[in-house]
Amino acid sequence: MVHFLSLRDFSAKELEGLIRRAMEVKRYPQSVQDAMRGKTLALLFLKHSTRTRVSFEVAMYQMGGNAIYLTADTSQFGRGETIADTIRTLSRYVDAVAARVFEHEQLEELARHATVPVINALTNFNHPCQVLGDLMTILEHKGRLDGIRLSFLGPADNNIVNSLLHACPKFGVHLTVCSPPGQRLNPTALEYARAVARETDTEVRLVHDPIEAVKNADVIYTDVWFSMHETPSEEGLRLYRPYQVNEALMAQAPKDAVFMHCMPIKRGQEATDAVADSEQSIIFDQAENRLHTQKAILLHLIG
Ligand code: CP
Ligand code: NVA
Repeated sequence: MVHFLSLRDFSAKELEGLIRRAMEVKRYPQSVQDAMRGKTLALLFLKHSTRTRVSFEVAMYQMGGNAIYLTADTSQFGRGETIADTIRTLSRYVDAVAARVFEHEQLEELARHATVPVINALTNFNHPCQVLGDLMTILEHKGRLDGIRLSFLGPADNNIVNSLLHACPKFGVHLTVCSPPGQRLNPTALEYARAVARETDTEVRLVHDPIEAVKNADVIYTDVWFSMHETPSEEGLRLYRPYQVNEALMAQAPKDAVFMHCMPIKRGQEATDAVADSEQSIIFDQAENRLHTQKAILLHLIG
């Protein structure tokens, strides 16, 4: 059974194949308009979503298939039915399940009991669909991945960061994470990233000075300071304030650096309107490419 749980599980060649496929379907959407005929994707979402939910549903519809959206509130899962019973039941009806859950272990448990492919639609630990779309977006804007310098500003312990750690070194993308002093990268994701980075001669580093992070960056990426599963605090807000991506910080970066954000943005916190809505911002291309890369994932798993 092939699942899509982490970018760590796929080689550079496999991920590149998915990105190339996504570029093809973006260009020629009609070429796959019947590819999911008779197929159904269940979306089991225990957290909020706009992009991931809509792009998966639209991907299925545009390829001739169906999608069913389930939440804790509207399914028996929310009344205590076990993960195992939920996924074994869903497996009897649908062809694949995209799940957005809290703990990554919950997703692994789903995958263990599923008899159809499971797609990670975000966990507290990682967000592989997002970062696959992001790599495609960088490739479109910069024409290459190898040698690109990506700097992420914000929390070190973050699901986007962990997927970047899983993927960037595979593609020769140098990754800088810039976070408040005292924060550390996820040890397992870092260990994996460092091992791959040694083979591909890529840099992976954690720094604390935002100017140092952006001064040679091709891509400046940020995310909310508090993820959906976290509780914002006044102290946290103060801690992250120097890491806001604003015009003053962008002025320290190369002129052709692009600004990325997985969205949703807390405007005025991690990024200002002036940056999010600037010429350098490619956030809506990122959002759009979720649709195309997820079509490629679905084609790979159940096409
Ligand atoms: N980036 C992302 O996954 O957005 P949603 O939470 O809206 O799905
Ligand atoms: N880190 C964010 C990403 C949202 C797509 C969160 O988990 O809330």
